[in-house]
Amino acid sequence: MTDRTDLTAEEIRLWAYRLESKSPEEVLSWAAERFGTEMILASSFGAEDVVLIDMLQKVAPGTPVFYLDTNLHFPETEETRERLAKRYGISFLRVTPRLTLREQAERYGEKLWEVDPTLCCNLRKVEPLAGLLPAYRAWITGIRREQAPTRARVQKIEWDPKFNLVKFNPLAAWKWEEVWQYIRAHDVPYNPLHDRHYPSIGCSVCTRPVNPGEDLRAGRWAGFAKTECGLHK
Ligand code: ADX
Repeated sequence: MTDRTDLTAEEIRLWAYRLESKSPEEVLSWAAERFGTEMILASSFGAEDVVLIDMLQKVAPGTPVFYLDTNLHFPETEETRERLAKRYGISFLRVTPRLTLREQAERYGEKLWEVDPTLCCNLRKVEPLAGLLPAYRAWITGIRREQAPTRARVQKIEWDPKFNLVKFNPLAAWKWEEVWQYIRAHDVPYNPLHDRHYPSIGCSVCTRPVNPGEDLRAGRWAGFAKTECGLHK
């Protein structure tokens, strides 16, 4: 454990146990009490993230929110971000890759995502995230256990060994239906692609709609063995 948290590994395990029975709002308000503005929410403006943005405005307004702008997002994602900014009167921290798309093409070839999506995710998401997180003591994400076998054991609070800080996953135990119940009950702006069979939305070049019966993340990096972009595994 480094000096970036005053919680020991043992304490984090204990809090994971205690927070397991708490609602997402309770987790967020506990997190905000402990970390204040040294904590930041990661948002790609998908269904889970818009829920967390709405909750944060209620329990801990002022908590910063960032998005990794890969320069490859759907126009619908950009519009969703603008609607959220207007609705809550907040601005989002834009985190950009080191290379523009042109520079990336010059160095690695055109359409790197078709040839080596892992390298592309590293350049456009993981590296920029690794540049941002050292300024914080905790980050919040929208991952849920139901989303993938790789996420089945995530805790509401855990130590993130990859980025070396505390990670909160307040929606870890929620089902997809609970996410939508919240969105409807609170009239939260959401990405209209969700209504067009895109349950999980990443870059436009690597996301397709899912067919009936396919799992929630089947539309991400379809055709590749890849299931995670490297932010969470
Ligand atoms: S990914 O790793 O496969 O891309 P997914 O799309 O399921 O992740 O999103 C899971 C969580 O990762 C989101 O709820 C959000 O917290 C974070 N996240 C994913 N993409 C971004 C992004 N572009 N910017 C900021 N956070 C993101």
